[in-house]
Amino acid sequence: MSQSFDVIVIGGGPGGYIAAIRAAQLGFKVACVDEWKNAAGGPALGGTCTNVGCIPSKALLQSSEHFDHANHHFADHGISTGTVKMDVSKMVGRKDAVVKQNNDGIQYLFKKNKVTFFHGRGSFVKAVDGGYEIQVAGTKEDLLTGKQIIVATGSNARALPGVPFDEETVLSNDGALRIGAVPKKLALIGSGVIGLEMGSVWRRLGSDVTILEGLPTFLGAVDEQIAKEAKKAFDKQGLKIELGVKVGDIKLTKKGVSVAYTNAKGEAVKLDADKLIVSIGRVPNTIGLNAEAVGLQLDERGAIVVDAECKTSLPGVWAVGDVVRGPMLAHKAEEEGVAVAERIAGQHGHVNFNTVPWVIYTSPEIAWVGETEQQLKARGAAYKAGTFPFLANGRARALGDTTGMVKFLADATTDEILGVHIVGPMASELIAEAVVAMEFKASAEDIARICHAHPSLSEATKEAALAVDKRTLNF
Ligand code: FAD
Ligand code: NAI
Repeated sequence: MSQSFDVIVIGGGPGGYIAAIRAAQLGFKVACVDEWKNAAGGPALGGTCTNVGCIPSKALLQSSEHFDHANHHFADHGISTGTVKMDVSKMVGRKDAVVKQNNDGIQYLFKKNKVTFFHGRGSFVKAVDGGYEIQVAGTKEDLLTGKQIIVATGSNARALPGVPFDEETVLSNDGALRIGAVPKKLALIGSGVIGLEMGSVWRRLGSDVTILEGLPTFLGAVDEQIAKEAKKAFDKQGLKIELGVKVGDIKLTKKGVSVAYTNAKGEAVKLDADKLIVSIGRVPNTIGLNAEAVGLQLDERGAIVVDAECKTSLPGVWAVGDVVRGPMLAHKAEEEGVAVAERIAGQHGHVNFNTVPWVIYTSPEIAWVGETEQQLKARGAAYKAGTFPFLANGRARALGDTTGMVKFLADATTDEILGVHIVGPMASELIAEAVVAMEFKASAEDIARICHAHPSLSEATKEAALAVDKRTLNF
């Protein structure tokens, strides 16, 4: 006999599990179906983000940053350590423990909010009177009916044509987070977010890292001034980033992998490495959903077609997160999940795409919200810019981390903040102030007039806002 629910969520990543919790909070009878398995075959809620994305990558970034500090920066503080050693299996084990804490935390939240969890693959069977039938294929078969369905099936790593991931030598994000020993030579294709974060982890641990990027510009979506500053820092760290390359044949060898490519000068080059991480973007995932059974419309990239409110082509079926248009970010997926649950309840859920922050967790961190200077120029906007370097910030000096700057872009007439761009220490945390300011349509002067704690990195934000009016106090 089938079990009935008001709302069935397919996918338990940040889009799905948050939608399920919000729908339950609003009084609906909710089920969430997720198929992710941990190493023992048990459930592992949290999707890509928790299992092979945001959380494990940040755990490894933290461990490798500690190692880098111990090796290169402790001495500046008068601390001598002798030879610093890295036990990679312990580092990876710690990362796995952090992942499990998050998996278990979501199971606890489901119990707390009375969300019924089904472990297995959810697929559409057919439309029924007032809803849809969903088959769950897991350790136990279940047939569910739901009045409203939220699809949050996420995305998968894009492979290069003819070069499948074996997760031993040719790695997606999954294998990249499970490397068991420091590779002597590591090659990456794609200097986007994953390429830079994963490249940083293994460079800090001692790998000779080369990143091959197809585009001639470095981090094209980032404000040019910020990207330039970041590139300088990465060059200094020994991350080799080759822009404007054309990747050719990739062959597995006895020792690892060999990548043939043409460099920006048109020369044929061969790069031999122990491992290759392919980080060239992600594709929406609808594998096994049986979307065709109910006529759910997909676009040419395989993403589920949705309108601005996340409504699909079918009544009562919604889709959120990486499986739909827009940035592939966990917090974007979460916001869409909340908004959809609220819309189902007749409320006015809203996601402001103009204030979705981006963060790249390298060292220095890169974070931004709103428009870049090149975007403003391209649309002919009249704007004012103000920057403040961390070199002139007391807290940054005390931390010993003075790379980078905060940059404000504001409307030339109204002074409304149009974009804030940061490269430097704790940019991931500093950007929150800019997001709040932009949500409240603040002017640069508003931030400049707010009292910021001293000494703090956030004073650089205040000073950059002052710089818009050419009146910095400490530079
Ligand atoms: P997912 O997290 O992919 O979850 C989808 C879930 O649905 C999975 O558990 C999957 O198993 C399940 N599923 C799929 N099909 C079915 C089915 N038919 N039945 C049942 N279950 C199904 N974003 C950030 O904002 N910050 C970061 O720092 C960050 N770091 C990242 C690092 C890496 C290495 C990667 C790869 C990504 C990172 N991201 C980051 C992106 C982020 O992980 C995604 O944007 C986010 O996970 C998308 O959430 P989602 O719920 O849409 O999908
Ligand atoms: P990406 O889109 O960030 O970068 C891919 C890069 O690969 C681009 O620079 C692109 O020009 C390049 N590229 C594509 N095809 C190529 C080819 N054939 N040869 C050479 N270069 C090629 O994608 P990435 O790094 O795989 O990450 C996927 C997504 O995951 C990100 O866009 C982001 O949405 C999310 N993510 C977010 C993180 C965060 O918020 N901190 C961390 C990691 C991932």
